[in-house]
Amino acid sequence: MSGRLSGKVAIVTGSSSGIGQSIAVRFAEEGAIIVVDYRNHPEGANDTKKQIESKGAKAITVQADVSKLADNQRLVDQAWEQLGGCDILVNNAGIEKGADFWDVTEEDYDAVLNVNLKGAFFLTQFFVCRLRDAKRPGRIINISSVHEDMAFPHFSTYCVSKGGMRMFARNLAVELGPLGITINNIAPGAIMTPINKTLLDDKPKLNALLENIPLGRMGKPEDVAGLAAFLASDEAAYVTGSTYIIDGGLTVNYHEQ
Ligand SMILES: NC(=O)c1ccc[n+]([C@@H]2O[C@H](COP(=O)([O-])OP(=O)(O)OC[C@H]3O[C@@H](n4cnc5c(N)ncnc54)[C@H](O)[C@@H]3O)[C@@H](O)[C@H]2O)c1
Repeated sequence: MSGRLSGKVAIVTGSSSGIGQSIAVRFAEEGAIIVVDYRNHPEGANDTKKQIESKGAKAITVQADVSKLADNQRLVDQAWEQLGGCDILVNNAGIEKGADFWDVTEEDYDAVLNVNLKGAFFLTQFFVCRLRDAKRPGRIINISSVHEDMAFPHFSTYCVSKGGMRMFARNLAVELGPLGITINNIAPGAIMTPINKTLLDDKPKLNALLENIPLGRMGKPEDVAGLAAFLASDEAAYVTGSTYIIDGGLTVNYHEQ
């Protein structure tokens, strides 16, 4: 397929639902071949693959739990073995667990940090090593959150993971620039996906949130996918080490009454 990502191969982690699925489909529309990663929802991954194929593009599905190093290595290996390489990595897989700070368990801490931060860290390492050895350029896009900066009370593990992702991108921009590899974060605000099911089911809480969003609505996964497509394309060739906030104005909306 022709398009801004024509001939590129992209891994999108956690692309069996939500933002990841939308990015996978959008990249395919732009001409990329997609490695659809999923942890334990093959039906969601197959749905993503079907959507991609219905647009005349190509995708493979790979089961890989990003919190496991061996799975991450296998994910990159599969892209190279089945598709001849990999040019774009989207670290999208993420989870959140709410708890007052004093109630956070080691188990919850490890669960969130291992997926959101350790997973992205080592998958990126495997992705970069292959590119370095092949002397090929590349693109890394992390789906962080407005909570890489902004407090989110009762979600300290999530904020720690996304804050870490913020410095991950800045540090790697410096180390990877000489290799021709860029890395940027997308920081979404409130997007309508399964991760927000509790919020979406709580009308008073949802309405209170909407009042704080100048554009008056939650974001759609497609909104995020459009920005990701730009960052993966040649149009963003000179962009690295940055975070792009996409939140309908939420984070700039503090005002004196
Ligand atoms: N929806 C929002 O409002 C919002 C806002 C800011 C940031 N984000 C971030 O966007 C990303 C995508 O979330 P979403 O909103 O689409 O929700 P989602 O729950 O639909 O997507 C998360 C995906 O990650 C996958 N995943 C979880 N653990 C995994 C693992 N160990 N290995 C592989 N995949 C795994 C899930 O299966 C799922 O497909 C997350 O990183 C999330 O923190 C979402």
